[in-house]
Amino acid sequence: MNSPHACPDPQLDALLVSDEIMEDPYPIYERLREEQPVFWSDAWQAWVISRYDDVEASLKDKDNLSNENRQALLFSALTEAERAEVAPLRHYYAQKDVIGSDPPDHSRMRALVQKAFTPRTVAGLGPRIEALAHELLDHALQSRRFDFIAEVAHPLPVILIAEMMGAPVKDRHLFKRWSADILAFQGTGVTTADAARISQASLLEMFDYMNELIDSRRVEPRDDLITALANAEEEGQRFSRDELLATCNTILTAGHETTTNLLGNLLHLLLRHRDQWTALVRDPNLITPAIEEALRYDAPKQRNFRRVKRAHEFLGVPFAEDEMVFQLIGSAQRDPRHYDQPDVFNIQRGKIEHLAFGAGIHFCLGAPLARLEARKVLEIMLARCPDVELEPETVKWQPRVQFRGPGEMWIRRGA
Ligand code: HEM
Repeated sequence: MNSPHACPDPQLDALLVSDEIMEDPYPIYERLREEQPVFWSDAWQAWVISRYDDVEASLKDKDNLSNENRQALLFSALTEAERAEVAPLRHYYAQKDVIGSDPPDHSRMRALVQKAFTPRTVAGLGPRIEALAHELLDHALQSRRFDFIAEVAHPLPVILIAEMMGAPVKDRHLFKRWSADILAFQGTGVTTADAARISQASLLEMFDYMNELIDSRRVEPRDDLITALANAEEEGQRFSRDELLATCNTILTAGHETTTNLLGNLLHLLLRHRDQWTALVRDPNLITPAIEEALRYDAPKQRNFRRVKRAHEFLGVPFAEDEMVFQLIGSAQRDPRHYDQPDVFNIQRGKIEHLAFGAGIHFCLGAPLARLEARKVLEIMLARCPDVELEPETVKWQPRVQFRGPGEMWIRRGA
């Protein structure tokens, strides 16, 4: 592919699509921060920003950067024929939704979605999350050892979102598969035609399902997210059907994979640092700092992105219209310019600020929910199985650069 810029360090660039970055991205991030803080990557066909202050400024820059149609740039690596084959997927990504829009559309849609995530609504989910965590652990703890991701971290957020939306319990497994397929397309270093095809098939299946659900809620409203969003569509066309479907997809995918990663990373880090797990068993006041430190140390969403809306200079580097900018949140949160001993996991480091939920107008709407899920799961595990141990050799990182979290991680009851 013809590249619009010369890549200043092809060897470093190759690392961005290597197996190493899936295993341990942090040494690669360190090189980027120290040697190439604004880096043109041929491999990702994008600008890569890696220092804390720069990532934060970039996340907040709504004048020059856009979320609208940003995913369209993910298709640039495909051939003309492949692009034609995934036309429905491209059509979907061209739709505006809460995350894929700029003001004023963004303000309108965010106000609507926010209604479903008020502090009261989220707090009201506490008992359901507890019941779900107990139910999943009842099953998992029947065995002496179990895969925490498959048994708890993966099912819990997806079941919760499916329920919030109003989908029947029997359809939970569909949500799991759709979410995994759809995200596989966005998560890798470079987009492949196969990943796009799989993503498209699941997305279209999910849209058929959602269309039926929305229509049925029109006739028979219920107290769920789909009814709330469908009503918003009804009232003066504040949501078009395409926007509505795209927003359902965003809520499903944004709220699932990231939370699974948070739960997996949190438990992984605490069990790897046994002294900190023991401190938590003794003092539950450390639960909040433990969650924040896990969000900082291993950001569930490592790489955020924007499309350049308007040509401009960033730190003296010219960004052209329609180029892609990657904001490496995972790197920013290990920047020694911002943190004392950033590579040390320490739940008692004091005030922890981070960018794990983004910054600026697109700041994560699900942050209170994700934090509540993590708190409940941790509280229940500390109470029910404080003797649990990690089997470190079983930890397999997911092969995604966009997200970080174990895809598999076995734990066992202590001897
Ligand atoms: C640990 C878990 C989570 C992480 C790390 C995370 C991370 C993020 C980040 C970085 C953004 C900003 C995207 C951007 O600037 O383009 C974002 C936005 C968003 N997140 Fe989350 N998220 C999490 C959980 C959730 C959950 C549970 C939900 C909902 C069920 C959710 C829904 C959203 C929505 C709707 C947006 C778009 C907000 C807007 O554009 O105004 N997220 N999230």
